[in-house]
Amino acid sequence: MGKGSGYGKVILFGEHFVVHGVPGVVSAIDSSTDAEVKKSTNTNIRDERKTSKGYGEEKRLQQIESIERMLVAMHIEPKLSLDIWIGGSLPGFSGLGASAASSVAIARAINEELELKLSNEEINAVAYEGEKAYAGNPSGIDNTAATYGGLMWFKKNPTSQDFVEKICIKQPVEIVIGSTGKTANTKLMVEGVAKRKKADPKKYDPLFEQAETLAFAGRSALEMGDMEKVGALMNENHSILQEIGVSSEELDFLVETARSYGAIGAKLTGGGGGGCMVALTPGKELQDKVVTAFKTAGYEVLATKLGAK
Ligand code: PMV
Repeated sequence: MGKGSGYGKVILFGEHFVVHGVPGVVSAIDSSTDAEVKKSTNTNIRDERKTSKGYGEEKRLQQIESIERMLVAMHIEPKLSLDIWIGGSLPGFSGLGASAASSVAIARAINEELELKLSNEEINAVAYEGEKAYAGNPSGIDNTAATYGGLMWFKKNPTSQDFVEKICIKQPVEIVIGSTGKTANTKLMVEGVAKRKKADPKKYDPLFEQAETLAFAGRSALEMGDMEKVGALMNENHSILQEIGVSSEELDFLVETARSYGAIGAKLTGGGGGGCMVALTPGKELQDKVVTAFKTAGYEVLATKLGAK
């Protein structure tokens, strides 16, 4: 039997904009998707992840297409039957890179079961092919975070290797992830932004420039350990995500709630339209306060840290 894992992630700066070549900042989180794969007489997928309501059904066809795409990318006989199990600590919530984490986990497990000896770079490329089934035209930021982990700077390069750099911060910082419980279709969200951008460049071009400025400023504030600044920039990033039409009433509610309980920054994370948001809450006490506020309001929460090993 082959086994593999892939990390979940939060995007701190630049979701959606990264698809169009703007740089972004992403952090893997300490929850992962695990997969086990065994050659079999017929193909079977057992997905035992904890998910938000409707996630499994909404993603089912995309999951099948994703696995087929990865088999093709690995040059594997398409008729080969595999028994695939998916589980792990990362919940199937939209926005946390769950599809990319599962693609990386499955690619690694197939690699081990069939003794393909693929490098991390090759696993990442295979998972990117798998991501196309979920996101249409993905930037590659999710599969890169899922493969390598850590806090990183990412810029898509459509013609060759993406530009990826590790970002170092002085000490790990507490964050809270809140889930709206709503499953979102990343592909439709990405397509919607591309369509609106094309139709209204006068509105969208300056927002894309602002996103680029924010990513650079966010990276340098993280490296300087200036968390107040990071938080203010995350707030600004949430505003431009609202402007490009990817936030939702519940995401805005969670963002506002986090801020009102003392979070120094909060924004939606990932594709939006449901899914998750992230709040910057340095210190255990502040983190606990925001966690309690979310739970009291009836939302699912993940409490973790940026820059943790
Ligand atoms: O919602 P998620 O976890 O699939 O994240 C999508 C991130 C986007 O920037 C919207 C798409 C991408 O490929 O970068």
